[in-house]
Amino acid sequence: MLLEMKDISISYGKVSAVRNLSLNVPEGGIVTIIGGNGAGKTSILRAMSGMVPLAGGEIHFDGSRIDGLTSDRIVAKGMAHVPEGRRVFPDMTVEENLRTGAFLRRDKDGVENDLEKVFQRFVRLRERRRQLAKTMSGGEQQMLAIGRALMSAPKLLLMDEPSMGLAPVIVEEIAVIIEEINAQGLSVVLVEQNAELALELANHAYVLETGNLALEGPADELHDNEHVRAAYLGI
Ligand SMILES: Nc1ncnc2c1ncn2[C@@H]1O[C@H](COP(=O)(O)OP(=O)(O)O)[C@@H](O)[C@H]1O
Ligand SMILES: [Mg+2]
Repeated sequence: MLLEMKDISISYGKVSAVRNLSLNVPEGGIVTIIGGNGAGKTSILRAMSGMVPLAGGEIHFDGSRIDGLTSDRIVAKGMAHVPEGRRVFPDMTVEENLRTGAFLRRDKDGVENDLEKVFQRFVRLRERRRQLAKTMSGGEQQMLAIGRALMSAPKLLLMDEPSMGLAPVIVEEIAVIIEEINAQGLSVVLVEQNAELALELANHAYVLETGNLALEGPADELHDNEHVRAAYLGI
């Protein structure tokens, strides 16, 4: 397994957000976590990338234990986080935003090479490389946030609600990008309230209900599961 969460719990003070969750991400896979607002999806991604501490359990990534490490150390090990709400730096240009993704890298040629690859994948980012991020549309900012994460040359990409607030055609573009990135060997953890999209893209899915694991299984099986269809697919 590339990533293993073993029996993890997350709390904010006295508020328990996630309880006794175990989750695996195989090398090359797309794993999704679906669930309603407040279920604990963002908390799980933040725990993976070292932004919130665990109240219990362990996280192993690429052969070593990572819970307790700083976010920088975890980035350096090959995990990149595309946060909920994109969080690009509004007063920096597109290119400056992309370069922040590579802040820990010392391989200058590799960074320039990856910047070129990001510009090839996201043509609009190249056209707008000197434009301030805050002047970009929501879809362009999402692409920028993904591009910035790719600039750390990750093995695992965490994506928190990439489709949120975007028009259906842009969501479709993002879906294609996720598939392409994964086809080139990057593993993905995709958090979504858009369960239809998530189950279409993922190999394996976890369904979270108010901090507890309700169901898990192959994404196509969960897509046909009656409870999932009623609660998350609006069928
Ligand atoms: N910084 C925080 N401080 C206190 N409670 C929080 C914080 N972040 C999230 N929570 C709580 O943790 C629970 C899970 O939230 P979150 O992980 O954001 O869920 P989701 O991403 O599934 O909407 C919610 O009850 C939320 O109110
Ligand atoms: Mg969230």
